Amino acid sequence: MNEIHRLGVLTAGGDCPGLNAVIRAVAKTALGKHDLEVMGIEDGFLGLIQNRIRPLNNESVSNILTLGGTILGANNKIAPRRYPVQVDGSVEFRDVTERCLEHIRFNHLDALVVIGGDGTMSVTSDFVRLGINCIGVPKTIDNDLYGTDVTFGFATAVSIATEALDRVHTTAASHHRAMIVEVMGRNAGWIALHSGIASGSDVILIPEIPYDIGVICDFVKTRSRRGKRFSLLCVSEGARPVGGNQVIQHLDSLSPDPVRLGGIGQKIADDIEAATGIETRTITLGHVQRGGTPVAQDRVLATEFGNKAIELLQAGERGRLVVMKGRTVTHIPLVDAENKQRLVPTDHPLLRAARDVGTCFGD
Ligand code: F6P
Repeated sequence: MNEIHRLGVLTAGGDCPGLNAVIRAVAKTALGKHDLEVMGIEDGFLGLIQNRIRPLNNESVSNILTLGGTILGANNKIAPRRYPVQVDGSVEFRDVTERCLEHIRFNHLDALVVIGGDGTMSVTSDFVRLGINCIGVPKTIDNDLYGTDVTFGFATAVSIATEALDRVHTTAASHHRAMIVEVMGRNAGWIALHSGIASGSDVILIPEIPYDIGVICDFVKTRSRRGKRFSLLCVSEGARPVGGNQVIQHLDSLSPDPVRLGGIGQKIADDIEAATGIETRTITLGHVQRGGTPVAQDRVLATEFGNKAIELLQAGERGRLVVMKGRTVTHIPLVDAENKQRLVPTDHPLLRAARDVGTCFGD
């Protein structure tokens, strides 16, 4: 077992409420309890490629528990195996993994704590196979990382989405409208499912259950006929009609995962208005769900995860992903999470509970 003296920590992928709480837990546990040195790598893997690495001390991680974003910076466009360089006015992609390994050696990093989502864990799996000791910490508002029941950031996103739905509920009721809130989540419907249930949304649309617009329009019309002259719809950005496609807002050609979803809420609003004559408005929440201070639950989870990462390193574990199973923080092989997503199973008990209280899923 190689002893750990100095470790690097980085936050890769999109930002997420709770990142700073993990950085704090990692650094404070490592510095205070185990007398390790901690180096902060800036802007995710980009900082490792460019050797932008700085020491973290108690001072630098003090007072950041409640802060949104990440004090280290993040990047969701760069992967070491696909680093964009300008050649004769056009972009070419190079594999700069070896440069990362040089910088790990140059900075005497005995281990890396990598905080990220599914894309990040796929990149990190490469480093694990190359013999670098990495511990992964699962982050994402989407809650779609394989192997863990929950990621930090999710609870905050759900709470923001729920508040938005609650707020538009009153306008929907007062103006007898259908109101749609489009929430994030990529290909997973967790945010829509949880915030839809929490807000009592009449219709919840998730990517895992393709919708039939006829079913939704009939549902909205029937409500209206029965005296409920408004409807609240919570729509995941990844929702799609039966036999149809997701709505792509733009393609980010530099990113290893180029698709950026967005716009399905407006499409459904147009369809409902055309078919029913009921005025229908859409709000797209977007990055509001990822910003600001984490809720208490995410601060607690982030602290547990960060602490566990250091305890695993101290116990001599290598290449592990910290996960939550039931109510226990435990760990699995990091490479198990490579190229996988945790979607909502169509027999999930929450779907049944929502259907039993009359929620329409468009199917
Ligand atoms: O994975 C988190 C997430 O916010 C998704 O819900 C969303 O689809 C995506 O990132 C947006 O990415 P970007 O910040 O690059 O627009």
